[in-house]
Amino acid sequence: MIIMYNLSRRKFLKQVVAAGAGTAILPGTLLAGDEEVSPVTKDRDLRSGVSRFLLVPPCLVKPTESEITVNLAGGKNPLHCFIMFRESEAATWNKTEIFSIEKHTPVSIILRPLQANTLYEYQVQVRLKGAEAFKPETEGSFRTQRKDSSNFSFAMISDSHITPNEPERIKILSDISKSILARRPDFLLMLGDNIQTFTSHGGPMTEERFGPILYYMLRYGLGNLPASVPIFNVIGNWEGENGWHPEEQRAWARRARMSWLPNPLPYTYPEGGGEYGDYYGFTWGEGLFIVLTVTGYTTIEHVHGTKTGRGDDWMLGENQKEWLYKRLKDLKAKRKFIFIHHTVSGKAGDDLNTRYGRGGGQAAKVGEQKLIHEWMKRFKVNALFYGHDHVFTDIPVDGIHYTCVGSAGAPWKFTTDETGYKNYWPDSGYTWVDVNEDKVLVSFITPDSTKPGGNILHQFEIIK
Ligand SMILES: [Fe+2]
Repeated sequence: MIIMYNLSRRKFLKQVVAAGAGTAILPGTLLAGDEEVSPVTKDRDLRSGVSRFLLVPPCLVKPTESEITVNLAGGKNPLHCFIMFRESEAATWNKTEIFSIEKHTPVSIILRPLQANTLYEYQVQVRLKGAEAFKPETEGSFRTQRKDSSNFSFAMISDSHITPNEPERIKILSDISKSILARRPDFLLMLGDNIQTFTSHGGPMTEERFGPILYYMLRYGLGNLPASVPIFNVIGNWEGENGWHPEEQRAWARRARMSWLPNPLPYTYPEGGGEYGDYYGFTWGEGLFIVLTVTGYTTIEHVHGTKTGRGDDWMLGENQKEWLYKRLKDLKAKRKFIFIHHTVSGKAGDDLNTRYGRGGGQAAKVGEQKLIHEWMKRFKVNALFYGHDHVFTDIPVDGIHYTCVGSAGAPWKFTTDETGYKNYWPDSGYTWVDVNEDKVLVSFITPDSTKPGGNILHQFEIIK
C-alpha cells in the first residue's frame, strides 16, 4: 500500500487528479443464492484491511433502515468489483451488479434492500480488468439504522488535522481508530478539522489536486475502522469549506469530501439537510442526531490571529438556522444531540481565541449561540458535542452538556490561557457514548496498546 506523506511524489497526485474525484452511484441488485459466487474464503484475513487491489479499506457511510453505501477507492490498476452481502450468518448472499473502479478513484456503491436494525456482513469481490476470475478481497460488517428503543453506543473523534509530512498525526488517528473498532460502536462521528489544508492557516484548498490526497490520507489513517463502523462527517474550519473562502476553491474541497467521505444528502433521511451534506439530521433508536456547520455560512473572515471576525458574529446562515429550528421543534425524540465543530460564538481565555470560536459552554449565551441555546432548552436537547479546542472537557449550561470530545491527531493541546477551561484532559483520544434506556453515559477514552478498548479517563452521565 502506498503511503503518501510527501507531496513531492507528484506522480501519485497527478494520477489522482487525472482520474478525477467523481463518484459513481450504482444500486445493488438482489440475486440470492447465486451459484457462481464463491463463499468466503479464509486463505487470508479479509478483515485485516490489507488489500492487494484497493487503495484503502472500504468506508461505510449513510446507513439507513433499508440501505447502506460502501465507498471503495481503486489502487494502481483498474478493477471490476461486486459486493456480496447478507444478514449475519444467513444461508444465502445477495450481490450487487458488477461495477468498475478506476485507479486511485473512489466509487460509492449502495447495498439494498436491507432490513432495519439488523446485523449484516459483506464481502468485496475483485478482479483486475481483463482477468477472468473474481476473488474475495476484503470484508466487513455493519448494523442498519435502529428503529426501536434498544440500547446502543456511538463514538466521536475530532481534529485529526491530517496533512502531508505529518506521519505522527496518522499514527495517533490509527491507534484511536483501532481502539474504537475494538469496541464496535453503531457508528462514528468525526467532528471536523479531520483534514488540514496546508498553504495558509485554515485557508482555502489552493489546488484541486490537494483535496483527493488529503481525504485519501484521512482514509488511510482511519484504516479498517470504517469498513465495519459507518462514518458521519462534520465540517470544521480546516476543511477548506469556510464561508469566507472563494467559491471555486470551496467547490474543490467539497467535491473531494463528497467523493471520498460522503455524508447524508437531503433525501438520505427524512430529517433532510443541506445539498452538499454539510448539515443533516438522522434518527437512531430513540436518539435524534443533528449535524451542523458553523464555518460553512459564516461569511465574515475568522482566520486565527486576524481581527476581522469577532466572538459574537459567527452564523449558521438563514437556511441552516431555519432547518435546525424546524427539526428541533417538530421531531420528538427521547434523546437529542447536536454535533458542530464549535459553538456559533466564542468566549475563551483571551480575545484572539474568543474570536476564533473557542470556549464551548462558556459561549452558550453569546451571539447566535444564545439563540441556539434557547432552542436547545425549549426543545430539550441533551448535549452539544464539539471539537476545535483539542481537549476533552464538559460544561453543563442549564442542564445542557457542552462537551468537547478531545483530539485524534492534532499536535496542539490548548490550555486554560487559550480556552478558559479550568478542568480538561489534553490526552489524544475519543469520546464514547452509551445511549441506554435510563441514561446516557459519556466516556473519554485514550488508546492503550495493551488494552484494545483503551483507558477511560473521565466519565459522566446525562439523565433525563
Ligand atoms: Fe482543530
